[in-house]
Amino acid sequence: MAFDFLQVPEQEAVWVAAEAIRRQMEALLQALAVPAEHAQIVAEILTFASLHGVDTHGAGNILNYCGAIEQGIYTIPQRLEIVSESETTALLDCGNGLGFVAAHRAMQLSIEKARTYGVGMVSVRNGHHIGMAGFYPMMAAAQDMLGMAITNAAPSMRPLHGTLPRLGTNPIAFAAPAGQERPFLLDMATTTVANGKIALARRLGVPIPTGWAVTAAGEPITEPPVYRAGEWMQTPLGNTHEGGGHKGYGLAVMVDILCGVLSGGGFSAQLQSGENMTWTMAVDIARFRPVEEFKAMMDEMIRTLHATPTAPGGERVLVAGDPEFDTAAIRQERGIPFQRGQYEAILAGAQRLGVEIFI
Ligand SMILES: NC(=O)c1ccc[n+]([C@@H]2O[C@H](COP(=O)([O-])OP(=O)(O)OC[C@H]3O[C@@H](n4cnc5c(N)ncnc54)[C@H](O)[C@@H]3O)[C@@H](O)[C@H]2O)c1
Repeated sequence: MAFDFLQVPEQEAVWVAAEAIRRQMEALLQALAVPAEHAQIVAEILTFASLHGVDTHGAGNILNYCGAIEQGIYTIPQRLEIVSESETTALLDCGNGLGFVAAHRAMQLSIEKARTYGVGMVSVRNGHHIGMAGFYPMMAAAQDMLGMAITNAAPSMRPLHGTLPRLGTNPIAFAAPAGQERPFLLDMATTTVANGKIALARRLGVPIPTGWAVTAAGEPITEPPVYRAGEWMQTPLGNTHEGGGHKGYGLAVMVDILCGVLSGGGFSAQLQSGENMTWTMAVDIARFRPVEEFKAMMDEMIRTLHATPTAPGGERVLVAGDPEFDTAAIRQERGIPFQRGQYEAILAGAQRLGVEIFI
């Protein structure tokens, strides 16, 4: 977690072992008729996010997905369908089901194609929330490939200088394996922060920094109301023109094209809350140069970056993925922190559905 003020306060935290919450989520989903194989995928991805400190996109959200299933927003069991396919590409229909399952399949397909043809790209339509985008490129990195996953979302970001939200938080995630060093994992919303960070700040009762959100008139706000309803918006990464906001805005549109327009699933402004259209890519490093040489150079690059002297009073230089891998090392031992209320809600959900309690 990059922002300390967004940590669950120690006195409010209930620590749960990763394996326990993973099994609990699997059981909850299966109780709602999600096939075992799909439940396993969703539970694995949400646990991965929580372990890596991405609490905004982790196990704490399980009841939202359960609710969407119970309300019939998701079609369960879902039927994934390949709509069109070539050696290196595929268009996958998520079947209006769990976005995690389709994005996972999309990356699996990308990897299979990359293994045979050097590169694989898959676009997903008719999909829902995929959670932490960074999970999927890590699947490719584990296979000595470069991985990328991006997804669009319902509007929350204003275009630079705009007065209405037109783009989602449209994240970009990219991973590359290293040798002795940990993989490079860049996983970032193209808004200044992910929407979930604002929701988390609200839940923790702390104000957000200036620049994350603005009113329709463009005035910065530090306590955005729950309902957006066109009254407030997130800012593109960089926020202002001087700060490079035009580049965050442009990246968000690029994501929208690859995810929404290419798949036909819809661009951000056409999506409902909770919808995600996704694009995944895998590239086989061995088609370019021996993997060991690539990894050795990755190590050298990461070490060079880490060895950069820090500015006076500054924090040590990191590379993307460092905060998440550091958190995972701690949470593997200590468990995953839940706010007490959130923990009790999951417990109550499990009791209501009559499933075995693991947490
Ligand atoms: N499914 C969706 O609709 C959706 C939408 C938006 C975001 N998300 C997810 O939300 C999560 C959080 O996104 P975010 O933009 O708030 O992330 P963030 O700002 O916490 O981190 C962004 C990236 O910066 C890196 N980083 C952090 N501190 C660093 C430092 N000092 N030096 C170098 N690199 C550093 C991190 O490793 C990460 O790769 C992501 O997992 C993203 O995929 C999902």
